[in-house]
Formats: sequence, C-alpha cells, structure tokens
Amino acid sequence: TDRAQFIRHIPKAELHMHLEGSIEPQMMLGLAKRNGLDLRWQTADALRSAYEFSSLQDFLNLYFEGCKVLVQQQDFHDITRAYLHRCATDNVLHAEIFIGPQSFTERGVTIESLMAGVLGAMDDARREDDVSSGLLISAHRHRTQADALALLDSIAPWQDRIAGIGMGGPEVGNPPSKFIDFFAECKRRGFKTTIHAGEEGPAAYVREAVELLNVDRIDHGNSALDDPSLVELLRVRAIPLTVCPLSNLRLKGVSSLAQHPLREMLQKGLFATVNSDDPPYFGGYVNENMIEVQRSLDLTRDDIVTLAKNSFRAAFIDEPEKTRYL
Ligand code: ADE
Ligand code: ZN
Repeated sequence: TDRAQFIRHIPKAELHMHLEGSIEPQMMLGLAKRNGLDLRWQTADALRSAYEFSSLQDFLNLYFEGCKVLVQQQDFHDITRAYLHRCATDNVLHAEIFIGPQSFTERGVTIESLMAGVLGAMDDARREDDVSSGLLISAHRHRTQADALALLDSIAPWQDRIAGIGMGGPEVGNPPSKFIDFFAECKRRGFKTTIHAGEEGPAAYVREAVELLNVDRIDHGNSALDDPSLVELLRVRAIPLTVCPLSNLRLKGVSSLAQHPLREMLQKGLFATVNSDDPPYFGGYVNENMIEVQRSLDLTRDDIVTLAKNSFRAAFIDEPEKTRYL
C-alpha cells in the first residue's frame, strides 16, 4: 500500500536492536557448523518453528542458547555486517545496536575478539553502505551489580567507540534500583545510558529508571502509561522510549497490535520511536514493525514522520550530526 511504501522509503534510525537477536536461522546453522557445534535444529524451518514464545523469559532461554554459535571474531563481524546490510536496504541511515558481552566472556570468548568483530563490521558498513552505527554495550540485569561493573572495566579500552551502555534480561525481580551504583559509574565515565524497563515490569520500574538511574532513554516503557504522573515526567523531560511492537506482540505483552500502547504514547506527547528488538525472532525488521503497527493503530502519515524524526532526535549522536538527518 501507499502507507507501507512511505514507511519503507522514509529515512529513519533504529535504536533498539540486539545483535545476538539478529541472527537469521540460516546464518545460525552456518555459524554452528563453522564452529563444530550441534544445535537442536537441523534446518532453518525447524529453527524458525521454535520462535513461539509465552513470555520474555521463554524467549530469553532460546536467545541465550543461540548465543553459543558466536565464538570467533569473524562470527561477530558477520552477524553485525548482515544486520547493517539490511539497514541499507530498509533506509535505516543510522543504527544503534546492543551486544551483551557477558553471554560470551563467561564461555571464554575474549572481549577483544567480540569488539574487533563488531567494530570492524560497523566500519565496513559506514564505508561500503554509508550506514552509520553506534555500539551499545548491554549488561545483564539477572547478574550482579559487581558483574556489571566488571563488564564496564573490561570495555574501557574502547570507551571512545561506544555510543552508550544499556541493560536487558529478565525484568521482573531485577528492578533498576538493583543497579544504582553501576549507572552512576557509567555517567561518571561519560557514557550515555539506557535500560529496558516497563516491558514486563510495572510503571514503578520505569520511574526508578528515570529517578534513580537518570537514564537518557528507556527501552520499551509500555507500562509507564499506567501512571499518569510518570507519563507527565517522561513528557516534560522528553525521555525517548524505544518501543518494539512486534516484540511486545510475540512476547505476549499485548494480545494484538490493535491493543498496542504506541498510539496512546504519541497522543500523550511521549517521545516514542519504533524498533525491532530481535528481528528474526519476532517476525520483522524496523520497517515491518512500523508497517504493521501503522495498520493496526491506523497511524497517520504525520505520525510516521514524527516517529522517523524522533528516531534521529533520540539517537546518541552529536547535535550537529543530527541536523544532517533532520
Ligand atoms: N534481550 C534481547 N531482547 C530483550 C528484550 N526484549 N527484553 C529484555 N532483554 C532482551
Ligand atoms: Zn530489547
């Protein structure tokens, strides 16, 4: 349709995408083979049929299992390059991509090979596809704050190549308040910060992220709508929300896209963006997310323009550089 074509062609940024969650089934099988690993699935179709989830934890179990195929520098390079190629086709001009090193370093993969693989592919994409990208280092919220601080020390050599620090993993039971010192230390070192909050957790977790962690963005933020004074706080402070409609649908955060809170977020003046989270697992890249949520919520052409502009405005890039996109 017209609206879908408009969405595919409009220049946009993606700010919430996990590299470990970007591995297409075919590539997953290829990486397993290359590294001499046995997977529970022998074909891409068999693997794809496992992408049915009852909750965030149910998904995370498969996501962490899939991480095992990433072993060598070249593996990190190849998945990063594949995603950034897709950005070029989708008119994603700038992408901020998460990786959670703790999944790999705990198995003996060195932080050096992880960083060299990912950063090398980002450089290649800039040169070959004119796609700009920023790396977000994500800490696991189910691990300890000491673990997160050790991760922060381990990435210090690449400080000037890192766009920001984030946090993901199982939300309920691991509130932002568990990581006050960690986020203070990230700020002290000059990093931008973001945290997954309000995906399965309550509005109170989003409030903690804002009031106790002082993060620059919130990943998801859906449950914030349950607390009117929090909505007002997010609006007044213009804190971006990186919303992921197909992720919310597939992880049962919403029962249908027609029930998705994105339209209410826009109506209430919140700084929302649309993102893919873990594209093959949830059935679409950023364009599919925008197209499907546009259809389900009957978003207007102006809403699409707002979302595209918001994606650049919310990016962790310098203001002068932003104006190139706006
Ligand atoms: N890691 C990858 N995707 C995630 C999500 N949607 N929530 C929390 N952690 C994640
Ligand atoms: Zn996420």
